[in-house]
Amino acid sequence: MELQKKFLIFVPSAQLIFLLGFLIPTLCINQSKLRCRESERAALLEFKEGLRDPHSLLSSWEGSECCNWRGIICDNETQHVVSLDLGYRHLFDGPSTSWRLSGEITPLLSLKHLNYLDLSFNDFRGIDIPEFIGSIQGLSYLNLSNAGFGGRIPSQIGNLSRLQYLDLNSFYSWYTLYADDLQWLSHLSSLRYLDMNSVNLANADDWFYAINMLPVLSVLYFPNCQLKEFTTPLAVPNLTSLASLDLSNNQFVSMLPNWLFNMSKLECINLQFNQIRGSIPDAFANMTSLEVIQLRKNELLGGIPQSIGKLCNLRILDLSSNNITDDVSILATISSECAGGTLEILNLRGNNLVGNLSDWLAHFKVLTYLDLGSNLLQGSIPASIGNISTLRSLFLSQNTLNGTLPETMGQLSRLNLFDVSHNSLSGIISQVHFQNLSKLEHLSLGSNSFVFNMSSDWEPPFRLRLIGLRRCRIGPKFPPWLKKQRDYNILDLSYAEINDTAPDWIWNYDQHIFLLDISHNQIAGEVPGRLKYASMSIIDLSFNQFEGPLPGLPASIEYIDFTGNAFSGTIFPLFAQPMLIFSHLIITDNIINGTIPDSICNYLDMFVIDLSSNLLSGELPECWADLGDLSGLNLANNKLTGKIPSSLGTLSWLQALHLNNNSFHGELPTALKSCTMLITFDVGDNKLSGEIPTWIGESLLYLRILRLRSNMFNGNIPAQLSLLTSLQILDLAGNKLSGNIPSSLGNISAMAQTHKPEARMMEVLQGAVQSSLHNYGPSGYSDTLVLVTKGRKMEYTKNLQYVASIDLSENILSGNIPHQLANLYGLQNLNLSGNKLTGKMPENIGQLELLESLDFSRNNLSGSIPSSISLLTSLSLLNLSYNNLSGRIPTGHQLQTLNDPSMYIGNSALCGPPLEECEQNETHSATLPIKDDEESKMLEFYISMILGFVAGFWVVWGILLSIDSVRYAYFEFTDSLLERLSSAFR
Ligand SMILES: *[C@@H]1O[C@H](CO)[C@@H](O)[C@H](O)[C@H]1NC(C)=O
Ligand SMILES: *[C@@H]1O[C@H](CO)[C@@H](O)[C@H](O)[C@H]1NC(C)=O
Repeated sequence: MELQKKFLIFVPSAQLIFLLGFLIPTLCINQSKLRCRESERAALLEFKEGLRDPHSLLSSWEGSECCNWRGIICDNETQHVVSLDLGYRHLFDGPSTSWRLSGEITPLLSLKHLNYLDLSFNDFRGIDIPEFIGSIQGLSYLNLSNAGFGGRIPSQIGNLSRLQYLDLNSFYSWYTLYADDLQWLSHLSSLRYLDMNSVNLANADDWFYAINMLPVLSVLYFPNCQLKEFTTPLAVPNLTSLASLDLSNNQFVSMLPNWLFNMSKLECINLQFNQIRGSIPDAFANMTSLEVIQLRKNELLGGIPQSIGKLCNLRILDLSSNNITDDVSILATISSECAGGTLEILNLRGNNLVGNLSDWLAHFKVLTYLDLGSNLLQGSIPASIGNISTLRSLFLSQNTLNGTLPETMGQLSRLNLFDVSHNSLSGIISQVHFQNLSKLEHLSLGSNSFVFNMSSDWEPPFRLRLIGLRRCRIGPKFPPWLKKQRDYNILDLSYAEINDTAPDWIWNYDQHIFLLDISHNQIAGEVPGRLKYASMSIIDLSFNQFEGPLPGLPASIEYIDFTGNAFSGTIFPLFAQPMLIFSHLIITDNIINGTIPDSICNYLDMFVIDLSSNLLSGELPECWADLGDLSGLNLANNKLTGKIPSSLGTLSWLQALHLNNNSFHGELPTALKSCTMLITFDVGDNKLSGEIPTWIGESLLYLRILRLRSNMFNGNIPAQLSLLTSLQILDLAGNKLSGNIPSSLGNISAMAQTHKPEARMMEVLQGAVQSSLHNYGPSGYSDTLVLVTKGRKMEYTKNLQYVASIDLSENILSGNIPHQLANLYGLQNLNLSGNKLTGKMPENIGQLELLESLDFSRNNLSGSIPSSISLLTSLSLLNLSYNNLSGRIPTGHQLQTLNDPSMYIGNSALCGPPLEECEQNETHSATLPIKDDEESKMLEFYISMILGFVAGFWVVWGILLSIDSVRYAYFEFTDSLLERLSSAFR
């Protein structure tokens, strides 16, 4: 709902337009000859006395002629004050909100003839709506919208029997108005206009009964009111005058109510952003006055009734983001009927429409806006598209359209927005495609297979604001035509096969640019010392060949990704000036050196910092307490030294901490136990020492990855680690851990999940990550946005599935291998090699049927190899070498294919294939060539690949989240466009 509010800010609301209608006549009256009545003058002065008016808006309120005061109108015969208008209507372009009136409202009871009262858009800071308003009997117009009133709406308003216009809209207010019932409303029998936008009516179950008593009501706005039910079936609908009904953004979960279809005069119906179920009834066809149907973002099923075509006034049809399943050719029928001549805006985005586009598209005579994006459309875009000469916006993105782009699109001379991204389109894009597109501002062709072929002197007819050409083959040179495009806000040339030095002009755009993504090309050269872009929010230069020092960033920057270049020098230049909302700093894999400065902590909105794989050195700053929002910190693969600062423990939202592969020493600071949201904790490959703290298991209860590998930790493995029920990767290898392996590790429930990966684990995971990475760009307009944003703390975890690994190798662990480990059915890797483990292998090891690699080598295990091992059908790597195992090697299943004898070497008493037959009592190890430990290298490679990947994953989720913000931008952008268009028709 918050999100909705934001979008709607862009909508010049119909209310305001209506308001202006009231306003204009009152402004034109000349009142110079009027004499003010003393009692009314006194009341007004008392009223002024109660108000706080820091900017003297009421400075004209002095002297005796109150009829000339600002906001006052007197009747030209009786000389009574009839209108008090202190509404503040310059919210969007006037001075700051502090200009508005606040304070107390004294009763205006002496103004007995007042019929018009407007206090809208003031700032009364949560005070109640004064009850005396209900005593101003003559009121016909009452506007208290967005005036900062809060609390319960006084039922006394129900006494205003002459009231025609009531506006209690609180959409822009900080304070919430509510009503527990609307009984009082039912007395307002003259009411024509009622706006209660964002008033909390969650408890007003009688809302429909109340409005059903209003015989002349024409406009009803109840959006954002937390309404849940349309009505009980008992109500007989009575609302015959209603022309405009807005119940959007409530919580209706039922089918469309029957009473709706009795409203024969209804022109506009807006029920978007609810959870309305069921199919779209044919009954719409009877509502012949309908001009606007907005049902976006509900849960409607089934097809589009062809009877909709019979609505001869229909201008806007928005059924986007439902579950409509139909053949898109239904539009052929609709276009051939009445609505084909009137429909201006048609939005069916985000449904399950199938079928092909075809020539019927051109039968819509006045279509300006067509959105069929995010459906299941196939086939090619017909050349007849060039005949929809009225078209201004066309979205066909996120379908499976193929073939080439018809050159006829170059005829759409009014076209402003063209989005066919995320399809399977291909072919050459030439200047013919843009021939007459002088109005084009938004071009989104990304994620197809287009090849650009423009002559080098082409002068585009347009000035673009959004340039989305991801994955179009634009290169190898920077397109010269782009040089003259100077108005763009968004430029996405990622994956464009550009192999060129960055031209100077790309850095010289100043005012407008908001997003620059030229990632994944082979662009070389240096970036200027200071990026000028004044409004740049997102810059992605990743995976190019940029070199030289990092640039200074503009204050507006929020997100940078410079991964995979050759930037050098320190990170100081980035921070040359204060950045206000800097949240994502991603400079992985460059050659940045020097220290991490304290000044990094000045960026309080920092959400993800990833400086991994550089040459950073020195100690970490201690100022982390300032970065309270930090969720991901990745400093892996640098040359950092010193102790891990305990101030990291203040980061209570931290979810990923990677300090691996540096030279940190000392113990893990106890303060880290406050990082209770941690999911990934990786301090492997350092010089850390001391015991593994018990608080890891006791406090970091969300951990999924714990990696302490290759340090100097000693002591026992704390049994408390088994409290980490979400743990999927436990890597303690390469330390000096001693004692037994705690049997309780067999209780870690996340490792006991036995979901079998559908494809090979790596591919699944990488695919998931890649698709999420590539899914943004000017087309990354997504209907799932709202959900994603709501669940953003949940969303990113869903891809890290089905990985489970325990690696305790290269320690000095002793005792038996606890048979409980065989309860971890989901394990894919179990490595206990290089310890001093004794006793037998667990008999039930065959239960670990997902196990892909098993390494018990270089211990002192004895006894025979359990025959259940032959049940490990996924096993691709087995190493039992250098133990004291004896007896016959089990056979069968996967073991047949694991026939390299070296996996059993160093067990003098083992026999059977692939070693020598048991009957022959010879020593065989001497006869076998000792291989250069290739297997164990492979295993290491494999595991480090898993871990490396998983380590990288948490960087990716940062990007994922940021994509939402990118999406948000686009979404907001396109959405506001639609809203602006549609509100123009209201
Ligand atoms: C003012 O008075 C004149 C004549 O008495 C009347 O015709 C006119 O409608 C009045 N104007 C208003 C705004 O009431
Ligand atoms: C487009 O895809 C359809 C199948 O969906 C296929 O039959 C057709 O040949 C394809 N056309 C082109 C031009 O690739």
